[in-house]
Amino acid sequence: MATEETLVLVKPDGVARGLTGAILARIESKGYALVDLRLVEPDRERLERHYAEHAGKPFYEPLLEFMMSGPSVAIRVAGNRVIEGFRSLAGTTDPTTAAPGTIRGDLGRDWGLKVQQNLVHGSDSPESAARELAIWF
Ligand code: TYD
Ligand code: MG
Repeated sequence: MATEETLVLVKPDGVARGLTGAILARIESKGYALVDLRLVEPDRERLERHYAEHAGKPFYEPLLEFMMSGPSVAIRVAGNRVIEGFRSLAGTTDPTTAAPGTIRGDLGRDWGLKVQQNLVHGSDSPESAARELAIWF
């Protein structure tokens, strides 16, 4: 069964920079379906659940602070192999080295001191997608 759902977040930097529409256009152009979409201002508890795998890492606290700095757009996206496919569309984590043609590579700015700002989140496995969709929807 190749049809899947994934959680995409347009993070606070993407919303603040007015890139939500451009990011949605890339998702739709790839042929994925927007199943549900909402603007969310997550509290710390929601973010602790979302980023549980990163608890204790050096970037964890700055990451949570950043994610609480403004609204994100949460999107339930469906399509064939969309979990892997959206990760490919997003590009690698660091915008500086993310490939041109990807969301982070084309639209992301150099991390500088704000390493957590890379525009989007995408679930990394079917288990993560199920867990994260339940947190945001
Ligand atoms: P991670 O899940 O490793 O990356 P991805 O979003 O590509 O799945 O990390 C979650 C977020 O944490 C990442 O989007 C940005 C932030 N982060 C840092 O700020 N510094 C780091 O060194 C890493 C690995 C991630
Ligand atoms: Mg991740």
